[in-house]
Amino acid sequence: MDKLSVDHLLGIKYLNANDIDLIFKTADHFKEVINRPIKKVPSLRDITIANLFFENSTRTKLSFELAEKRLSADVINFSAGQSSVKKGETLIDTVNNILSMKVDIVVMRHGNVGAGVFLSKQVNAKIINAGDGTHEHPTQALLDSYSIREKLEKVKGKKILIVGDILHSRVALSNIFALQLQGATVKVCGPTTLIPKYISSLGVEVETNLKKALEWCDVANVLRVQHERMDIKYFPSTREYTQLFGINKQILDSLDKKIVIMHPGPINRGVEITSDVADSDQSIILNQVENGVAVRMAVIYLLAQQIKR
Ligand code: CP
Repeated sequence: MDKLSVDHLLGIKYLNANDIDLIFKTADHFKEVINRPIKKVPSLRDITIANLFFENSTRTKLSFELAEKRLSADVINFSAGQSSVKKGETLIDTVNNILSMKVDIVVMRHGNVGAGVFLSKQVNAKIINAGDGTHEHPTQALLDSYSIREKLEKVKGKKILIVGDILHSRVALSNIFALQLQGATVKVCGPTTLIPKYISSLGVEVETNLKKALEWCDVANVLRVQHERMDIKYFPSTREYTQLFGINKQILDSLDKKIVIMHPGPINRGVEITSDVADSDQSIILNQVENGVAVRMAVIYLLAQQIKR
């Protein structure tokens, strides 16, 4: 059987093109499964998975839990807000207590960059990074590329624009790595204050004029302004941000082609994207969410195959 080249899913930067191909082929199978009347397979009946969320989440948390249940794994959920972390318990103590309950796979979202890598060196379980601070969100990038592949038949050769708060986005970095591995070209667009200085070293061009950027691309992946990660003011006002970088129907209709619109969620309607665009037939936002379950089933299944029993 084909195997992943990695022992954990800590970031897209640790994967190669064959890994992504294998994940997508496996996800194709699971997408067919979750569209059956009985949406469940017995593949992971002997596997226990802990979902550890130290930061808020709606989509990723629910999507992982559903993916695990569709694979028949036993699932335990942990949210830091209702836990003994509030009483001062450390990450390692928290995780070791959970692992002593015989957990095989840990899915973790954490506010600190590198939290998944740290954990993978400390504990004897498979680790899946569900977002570490402003660093990586690998399953989001995988489901994004999978959704582009589904909509446009392939990712190779496509021009993908990432618009918005690139500086604070783990989705942007993981998408850049994933798209480039598959042969796409990536540009970013946003206020210069929200574009990291190192972006050109990743082979990514910057376009600060939204209309020009949209005219260039096949797909625009629109990101949320992450106010919660900002300790200073990066642009004068939300109104000005929306005027210069907001995606609305008027600007899309002014293009001479119909581009695909994506957003990882959660959406700030009326800020980075208007409702008529988010809910339009150009948008594949809900397809991204649907595909997230199949892609996460694939990642969990492939990592679980490596567990020695
Ligand atoms: N896309 C994403 O990570 O959304 P959540 O923060 O709701 O999980």
